[in-house]
Amino acid sequence: MNIREITKDVLYVGVNDRNTDRFEGLWPLPFGVSYNSYIIKGAEKTALIDTVEIGTVRDYIHFVNSETDNKAPDYLVVNHMEPDHSGGIPVVLANYPAIKIVGNRQTISMVKGFYHVDDSRFIEVKDGDVLDLGGKTLKFYMTPMVHWPETMMTYVVEDGILFSGDAFGTFGALNGGVTDTEMETGWYWDEMYRYYTNIVGKYGKFVQKALEKTAGLEIKYICSTHGPVWHDEIGKVVAIYDRLSRYESEPGVTIIYGSMYGNTAEVAEEIGRQLAARGVKNIKIHNASKSNLSYMIADAFRYEGLIVGSPTYSMHIFPPVEQFMIAMETREIKNKVLATFGSFTWASAASGKLKEYAEKMKLEVVDSLDMKQSADETVYEAASRLAENVAAALKCK
Ligand code: FEO
Repeated sequence: MNIREITKDVLYVGVNDRNTDRFEGLWPLPFGVSYNSYIIKGAEKTALIDTVEIGTVRDYIHFVNSETDNKAPDYLVVNHMEPDHSGGIPVVLANYPAIKIVGNRQTISMVKGFYHVDDSRFIEVKDGDVLDLGGKTLKFYMTPMVHWPETMMTYVVEDGILFSGDAFGTFGALNGGVTDTEMETGWYWDEMYRYYTNIVGKYGKFVQKALEKTAGLEIKYICSTHGPVWHDEIGKVVAIYDRLSRYESEPGVTIIYGSMYGNTAEVAEEIGRQLAARGVKNIKIHNASKSNLSYMIADAFRYEGLIVGSPTYSMHIFPPVEQFMIAMETREIKNKVLATFGSFTWASAASGKLKEYAEKMKLEVVDSLDMKQSADETVYEAASRLAENVAAALKCK
């Protein structure tokens, strides 16, 4: 069996990256990442879908040559221009001098801007256009802002295969198998939450538009740019992307805190205990100085309750907590039961500034507390009341 074969005429030629520490220079990759590319073989023409990141291009060209018996592909369809997928374009053009790049107007502009390619190499397509490979019809769907403005999806009409770009992708390299039928998928799900919320999270309304646009298609395989090819788990994958892009939550509460000497941490721990005492079972507590931002963002998206605490630091929010709040504001987080707690030694600032973020994000603060120096009975009572008010406001039980 050729493990690269998705169907007889559609093959996987992506590569794994287990070397890069941080995706986009920001997001840790404990399980690596795959850059997915595919070959579609028609009776007359052959097309590649996307390329790979430049550091992995040597393996990629080798895979393409071996799966095409060294017959140069005719088209390179560029669904997405972020360089983790477009980095291989100059090498593809150099290896296959007659290949044409298929993309929309914005794709072409970006290929020129990034890689200085001349006009003769392009075929421009618009929403709904088709390209016939001979018994394989590629239909193009424009899906802007999933995750860049030029993003589009390509659908193989005869086979029901959707090449979805970043949509339905996940962090995590492939470990042998390519489709979900060939592997245990369990560990990918948490990475999918982290991938979506960190990379695509800001663009929920555009994901919804893309889901609406592709809702009527019969889809047997989803081939995204990262992670497994989905077949058995299509329903689960689409449901996760649908829920997250609607900013819908699961039962649970995320507590994010910063603490220099343990006093604000003590309040976070007490709130956690008080929530548990009220029957909240799924509680994720993050010390913002230690947890990577990407995990905090993923949990904040995922769970309904969000409680953020910060000491006052030079009359501001403690920097790692502020970074988290900026990430929430950037991603236009919605539908949260939000509470805040602050602390100070001689002048209070963090508590008020956390509420200013909430106001900017149009999120109601269901309760807040502010602590001077360290916890006493009054603070413990306030923490208990805050937990009570958050637990009462949760709708996902
Ligand atoms: Fe994997 Fe938006 O690129």
